[in-house]
Amino acid sequence: MSEINIGLGNTDTETRRDAESDFVTFWGKQAKNLFWFSTWEKILDWNPPFAKWFVGGTINASYNTLDIHQQDKADKPAILWEGENGESRILTYKEMWIKVQKFTNILKSLGVKKGDRITIYLPMIPELPISMLACARIGAIHTVIFSGFSATSIRDRIDDSKSKIVITADGGYRRGNVIKLKEVIDEAIKDLDFVQNVIVVERAKNKINLSSKDMFWNELMNDVSDTCVAEKLDSSHPLYILYTSGTTGKPKGVLHGTGGYLTHLYSTFKWAFDIRDSDVFFCTADIGWVTGHSYVVYDPLLHGATQVMYEGAPDFPDASRMWEIIQKYHVTIFYTTPTTLRMFMKFGDSLPNSFDLSTLRLLGSVGEPINPEVWKWYFKVIGKEKCPIIDTWWQTETGGMMISALPGLETIPLKPGSGTRPIPGLDVSVVDESGNDVPENTKGFLVIKNPWPGMLLTLWGDDKKYRDVYWSKYKNCYYPGDYALKDADGYFWLLGRADDVLKVSGHRIGTAELESCIVSHSDVAESAVCGVSDEIKGEAIIAFVVLKQNVIKDHIILEKELLIKIRNDIGAIATPKQIYFVTKLPKTRSGKIMRRLLKAMSSNETIGDVSTLEDGTAVSEIQSVFDEIQKSIQKSN
Ligand code: WTA
Repeated sequence: MSEINIGLGNTDTETRRDAESDFVTFWGKQAKNLFWFSTWEKILDWNPPFAKWFVGGTINASYNTLDIHQQDKADKPAILWEGENGESRILTYKEMWIKVQKFTNILKSLGVKKGDRITIYLPMIPELPISMLACARIGAIHTVIFSGFSATSIRDRIDDSKSKIVITADGGYRRGNVIKLKEVIDEAIKDLDFVQNVIVVERAKNKINLSSKDMFWNELMNDVSDTCVAEKLDSSHPLYILYTSGTTGKPKGVLHGTGGYLTHLYSTFKWAFDIRDSDVFFCTADIGWVTGHSYVVYDPLLHGATQVMYEGAPDFPDASRMWEIIQKYHVTIFYTTPTTLRMFMKFGDSLPNSFDLSTLRLLGSVGEPINPEVWKWYFKVIGKEKCPIIDTWWQTETGGMMISALPGLETIPLKPGSGTRPIPGLDVSVVDESGNDVPENTKGFLVIKNPWPGMLLTLWGDDKKYRDVYWSKYKNCYYPGDYALKDADGYFWLLGRADDVLKVSGHRIGTAELESCIVSHSDVAESAVCGVSDEIKGEAIIAFVVLKQNVIKDHIILEKELLIKIRNDIGAIATPKQIYFVTKLPKTRSGKIMRRLLKAMSSNETIGDVSTLEDGTAVSEIQSVFDEIQKSIQKSN
């Protein structure tokens, strides 16, 4: 494995030493970088698996991202916004502060109180972070939904969170088309009487239907006071719910708190990105996902950084858009996904080479394993062999980065494809099925053995599920559901999901959610979905479907119906690449689908013991499908 020796020259050994000697005191020291209205009495109250960080301390996320910068950074741009259609807007820290206070007053006037939930379904426009920070200012809990989800998915989320206000837009731009967000919301809330109001941002100026619940953002903002004091909230007060796919049917509402979460973010931004006042930060993630929450909204603003926020598709109108933005705004730190990089790599080097990317000094990757050849391309062609690459492993549940090179802290050799080491304060291991540490260079399950400040508080309304999903496989250890190995230098290599969650273009899709959508089609008896490797997306979805007896409908028609159903029930991101109609699925005698088998077959591994199978012939049918897929991959190579 080749190593690359490049860093920013930082050597802070004290931080790691502090963290190793006592991680609790260590995090207490880090929390002092934030503004607290009153300090904590106890750093950590650990009642496994429930952690309360900075007990007794009071804090506010909106205050820490905006008010604290008004002395020395009021006129500094907070957001350099680039619309997909080429429009641009600059919002300074002062402008953000004023808009957030105004919008908070609007929420208050609509009766929103501390602890109320607000659903936000907006495109990547400044009104999205403004809405989130306004909620945070009074302790309302925001729940942002990615603008690609369908009405049914949104309905489930609004219903689960019982949001009383929904914030949306008349439309949003994506690849030159207008996505009619308000229409989707109308459909989603039609039988949800507890939704009192829908606030509509006019972005695309397309025609929408108005009901008595609807109000326009601009009209409300015209006539409201621009001062609103931030509430002093308990450190563990919930900041947001973010729904994410898991191994069970319905998405889980991951609940994050305030003081611990912000401490984790503040520290990781400093260590990983070595953030400086002169930086222009650009994270390409959509705010609808956790990377956008943590590293577009909260973290850059905590640090008073200037960042680029881009509205649309990364390759619109063409594959030079990202490079053009880096050149236009003199971006210094670029943080994106392996899927985006694989897509750009396909277009060759001449496109990025025709732009001035010389302002870049640090590059990041997130969301899925980065293939070493993509890492090297990123390093050479985008970073011109002078920018360290940080490959950051973390999850919606962890709140912030957990394993990453930290050029702001130390200079260590980088290995293409490895996330390197855990952040200070974490005790991470790779274990076998029984929880014993595996030897070096052996694939096993990643576990985290101690609490950390950014960890989720629980799952919204479901403490039991929280315990069962993350803390029951291994005693008092957090189980993220990822395979990993640790090499002889103590570097971690993240090897993909060990459970039934797929990562398609870096988006998390639970197989159970998709299967339950497919089997709700009236002609379907059973279904099993799995991932197959995909050159660009990392993983693509394929679905096996067993039809009910006596269904004689044409498979082409059925496939179309199922694809429409998936788009309507979940969203386009869950669309399978291919649906295969088979006569049976490999099941155990107790009737459970043998997923281990599908996984092994899809990755061309040996299938192991199948003696518990109910009917061995199911294997040969599925195997022949995978053989076909393999053949077509080989052909395209
Ligand atoms: C995967 C995204 C390898 C992993 C921030 C994890 C990664 C899941 C990496 C969480 C990485 C994330 N290398 N795999 N650098 N980063 N993952 O909740 O499987 O959307 O469990 O959070 O993404 O996805 P989520």
